[in-house]
Amino acid sequence: MSEIEFRSVSKSFRTKKVLENLSFTIRPGECFTILGPSGCGKTIVVRLIAGFETPDRGTIRIGTTTVADGSKGYALPPENRNIGVVFQDYAVWPHMTVLENVLYPLRMQKVPKEEALQRAKMAIQQVNMEGLEDRLPYQLSGGQQQRVALARALVSKPAILLLDEPLSNLDANLREEMRFEIKELQKSTNSTLLYVTHDQEVALAISDRIAVMNEKGEFQQVGTPEEVYDQPANPFVFRFLGIANFIPVHARDGKTFLASSAKEFLPLPDTVQKAEGTSSGKFLAACRPMEVELSHTSGPLEGKVVRKALLGPIIDYRIDLGGTVVRAQLQTEEGSMKGLIFEEGDSCRVGFSRLLWFPGNGEGEVTHG
Ligand SMILES: Nc1ncnc2c1ncn2[C@@H]1O[C@H](COP(=O)(O)OP(=O)(O)OP(=O)(O)O)[C@@H](O)[C@H]1O
Ligand SMILES: [Mg+2]
Repeated sequence: MSEIEFRSVSKSFRTKKVLENLSFTIRPGECFTILGPSGCGKTIVVRLIAGFETPDRGTIRIGTTTVADGSKGYALPPENRNIGVVFQDYAVWPHMTVLENVLYPLRMQKVPKEEALQRAKMAIQQVNMEGLEDRLPYQLSGGQQQRVALARALVSKPAILLLDEPLSNLDANLREEMRFEIKELQKSTNSTLLYVTHDQEVALAISDRIAVMNEKGEFQQVGTPEEVYDQPANPFVFRFLGIANFIPVHARDGKTFLASSAKEFLPLPDTVQKAEGTSSGKFLAACRPMEVELSHTSGPLEGKVVRKALLGPIIDYRIDLGGTVVRAQLQTEEGSMKGLIFEEGDSCRVGFSRLLWFPGNGEGEVTHG
């Protein structure tokens, strides 16, 4: 178990600023996820911790050791950091079999042969690769190679485990199983785990805390899965954690009007007026598709069904509220039981089981919370 601390870390490549003054701490034994869009700097964070990049400015500490100091151009070599890494491209040694790949870190650590073999077999079993021990990487699928890389990172029970999109090549079933395995392994080995991904489902499922990173390499919010999901700090976080409806409105004395059509929308809640210190201005009302409530007769707003798609257990609608289209989803079974199946072109009444209100129009200047 080791703590990892970034203190004011900056990293650029020529003119491209990737990280600017990034500070955060991963607690010992914690499963910490960085969730962010492609190209935002997640892999660079992993490479900085593993020791394959050196910060331009700032320091990185692992436990009590400062492993990198930008101002001194100092970086402890990767092999001295006791870190297990699975890189995004899951590089496994091409000339070694599955078993040899997984044994490799133990050989380096001079673990006795019998024990090493036992531990390697165990790790192979944990990633569901039994029976494929003698294959060479070119005889494996991408997902299988990814699992070899995972077994190789786990086998030496490192104090710190860095996983960079380790499940991206697996099918949905295997991904679910593996993320459960990863979580179990992390708990049983007590390692500090940094998991890097753009998949919000995995992040929500396995993390103790999630850091949501934007395109500029800035953390927008750090919190438990519940916190970032239920109390998103701003529209970016809300959008990144699932399908999001944003309804741009203008507020005047607590009344709001759709920006698209000037039709009256729902009133700005008192709590929001109080928190923002204003009852006028631009706001975004946000909700998930499941929070849109459709009805034939009751509901504060009028809508028109512009598209209907059956997604198995869920029906997905696009509803036009007056120039602003929102997505609404309901359980197919519940919908048919309650007679709430609409067709394209139908009119309906629309309400919301929950709305979040963000000040501004969602274009950068918004940093609520
Ligand atoms: N060696 C390099 N030279 C120049 N630019 C680089 C280098 N490595 C990374 N970058 C740039 O730094 C930015 C962050 O890259 P990084 O690989 O960390 O993104 P990421 O968040 O891991 O994305 P993805 O989800 O696609 O893996 C990108 O714009 C990338 O082009
Ligand atoms: Mg990456």
